[in-house]
Amino acid sequence: MTSADGTVDTPSVMRVVRTRGSLAGAYAALRQPPVRSARATRAAVFTMGALHDGHLALIRAARAEVGARGHVTVTIFVNPLQFGPDEDLTRYPRTLRADLERCAAEDVDLVFAPAPEVLYPDGEPEVRVDPGPLGSILEGAVRPGHFAGVCTVVLKLLHLTQPQATFFGEKDYQQLTLIRRMVADLDLPVRVHGVPTVREADGLALSSRNRYLSDEERAIAGAVPEALAAGVTAADLGRSADAVVGAAELELMRVGLTPDYVALTGPSMGPAPEQGPARLLLATRVGTTRLIDNTPVTLRR
Ligand code: PAF
Repeated sequence: MTSADGTVDTPSVMRVVRTRGSLAGAYAALRQPPVRSARATRAAVFTMGALHDGHLALIRAARAEVGARGHVTVTIFVNPLQFGPDEDLTRYPRTLRADLERCAAEDVDLVFAPAPEVLYPDGEPEVRVDPGPLGSILEGAVRPGHFAGVCTVVLKLLHLTQPQATFFGEKDYQQLTLIRRMVADLDLPVRVHGVPTVREADGLALSSRNRYLSDEERAIAGAVPEALAAGVTAADLGRSADAVVGAAELELMRVGLTPDYVALTGPSMGPAPEQGPARLLLATRVGTTRLIDNTPVTLRR
């Protein structure tokens, strides 16, 4: 039967595909809307709520990707699996009413805000995603099990929401890199988009945890973006990788902050190159609040 737009419906016939390309082609044909388009029509943004302008940037990027007729889902779920026993699970901000208002103002189509027992009906899952070597360095070394918890919930949310495109902030660069890795390694049919960090006027990256900071701590926290800027300057001056890291560390120590780590990696978080694009990442505690941030740098030796 031929429909008004000229597409022809045929009775479904089983196709046997033998290559990755034919498999992808078969799926694409199955899911293709009547008017052919390279654009995703379904996007999802996964959050733990306490939405701020950084989250809104993800939602806007999702809307820009799918267009006015596409579908944007936001999930709000404080995932117990990614918090260590001494971390801030119970005090993590929960602001559902305000979050829903922000989503409505952004024309989000669907919000999925499940209780933990909805996502984990049998309690914490026994089978989890192993995040591999990248899951146990930097944030993963300081927070054992964190990335297994993140990857597990993200995989579940991908299954549940079935987006073609998903959006993560560059602020959590190791998380973004690991999700990209998981999607590639497990052949997940979704495109992962990184969205640049949204910052306050003094450069502090927006984070739901910034609200824990006292006024005095907030002033000290300004040293975090300054440390990154010092690293960028050192790289621009042609300094070595060690000197770039050292410049950032010095800036933190100048205001009495002790970094959990300051590290230089490649853009995909492998070893830092001798020259060219790299990523400078750091974590430090300001009072009891843990802040993380990162920036691209270009090594020019
Ligand atoms: O970045 C976050 O808010 C969380 O780690 C995420 C991706 C929603 C998974 O719980």
